[in-house]
Amino acid sequence: MEIYSVKPSPYDLSVIGAGAAGLVCAIEAARRGLRVVVLDHARQAGEKIRISGGGRCNFTNLSLSPDNYISHNPKFCLSALKGYSPYDFMARLDLHHIRYEEKEAGQLFCQGSAKEIVAMLLQEATTAGVVLKMGHTVHTARALGDGYEVLCKQGNYQTPRLVVASGGLSIPKMGATDVGLRIARQFKLPVVETRPALCPFLFEGGLQKMFSSLSGLSTPATLTTGGVSFTHQLLFTHRGLSGPVALQASSYWQRGRALLLNLLPEQDALALLLAAKQGEPRLQVTTLLSRYLPKRLAQALAVGLDAPLAELPDQRLKQLANQLNGWSLTPAGLEGYRTAEVTAGGVDTAMLSSKTMQVKARQGLCFIGEVVDVTGQLGGYNLQWAWSSGVAAGRYI
Ligand code: FDA
Repeated sequence: MEIYSVKPSPYDLSVIGAGAAGLVCAIEAARRGLRVVVLDHARQAGEKIRISGGGRCNFTNLSLSPDNYISHNPKFCLSALKGYSPYDFMARLDLHHIRYEEKEAGQLFCQGSAKEIVAMLLQEATTAGVVLKMGHTVHTARALGDGYEVLCKQGNYQTPRLVVASGGLSIPKMGATDVGLRIARQFKLPVVETRPALCPFLFEGGLQKMFSSLSGLSTPATLTTGGVSFTHQLLFTHRGLSGPVALQASSYWQRGRALLLNLLPEQDALALLLAAKQGEPRLQVTTLLSRYLPKRLAQALAVGLDAPLAELPDQRLKQLANQLNGWSLTPAGLEGYRTAEVTAGGVDTAMLSSKTMQVKARQGLCFIGEVVDVTGQLGGYNLQWAWSSGVAAGRYI
């Protein structure tokens, strides 16, 4: 058998990926005195941080629990989230005088720009002595003696420790690759099947035509799927449904299953229609619905009901009420990784220590961030997972 040994290397740790997780991990490890090299094929570090939250970076959420995460082991994230909490990241921003604000319940955004967070991390990395090798494409990594060799287009890196922080599959145009999953498989680590999450729904046929005609309209709604309900803005698009409520539901949706859409989450639609039939019998359905919904949506829902309420049988009003409070819709699919904000699934957490992110069966190998089977809901949960898992690995590797 061929025996490999790690050649003397100027680095103690290679980190694959200069995204949110990789950067904080590298900083933490370098502050402990490790010589750290970060390899990334992008031109600039932290590209997803830069575009996150519409350029303002929803960097965390103050209301945080395992319920906000999807994983085969939903409790896995707890230890890292406790070890480095939203308040720890806020303290970091305070130190750099980066101002932030709570926009919606618990969601914290930069007051200025997401670029401030990237600049902060790059400054911290430089100060800690992290070596960033941008424009470096990693093909794979393998075990070499007690250590690791990262096979890179621009040359190989041999180090006793390796952290894989290469992110998910979402937005390949921005450089997302499956390299982390391939490395996991190479080390015989199981990977939970991946799928696009926080992703718009696609519809076909009549529903697609209807939603397309409403494209651009937004209304508060409740979507229920897989036993989970969300209430937020729903956006009609040329291809189907999007907006925060659809993105949230997409992470829990399974192909072939229906979504239950409630367009009047605050109202009992049947009671509303019957009361109006009694109180305002000459009222048209469209006029009534326009009090609660955007006019074009009200018109689309009231097609075939262009008579005064008094002339419409209760049975017909019941059908309309069912549609308003519990419209069962089966999407044709999701838009896919092209537009998904994140990737669900990834490296199976059963193989990792929840405290250190280290592979239980191998010294010195960690997986962190989105490449791991931990997926947050919309609202800053994914970046908080990246910070927390990155710090955990950086502290202990
Ligand atoms: P990340 O993807 O950040 O970094 C991985 C790095 O690995 C990249 O720099 C990539 O170039 C590099 N890489 C990949 N393959 C490679 C290879 N073969 N060789 C070399 N390098 C390679 N979350 C949140 O909490 N709040 C928000 O506001 C948003 N907003 C948002 C908007 C949009 C449009 C998207 C797409 C995503 C979000 N997210 C978000 C999600 C969040 O950005 C995401 O979960 C984290 O950035 C994941 O951090 P990681 O470090 O794990 O991966």
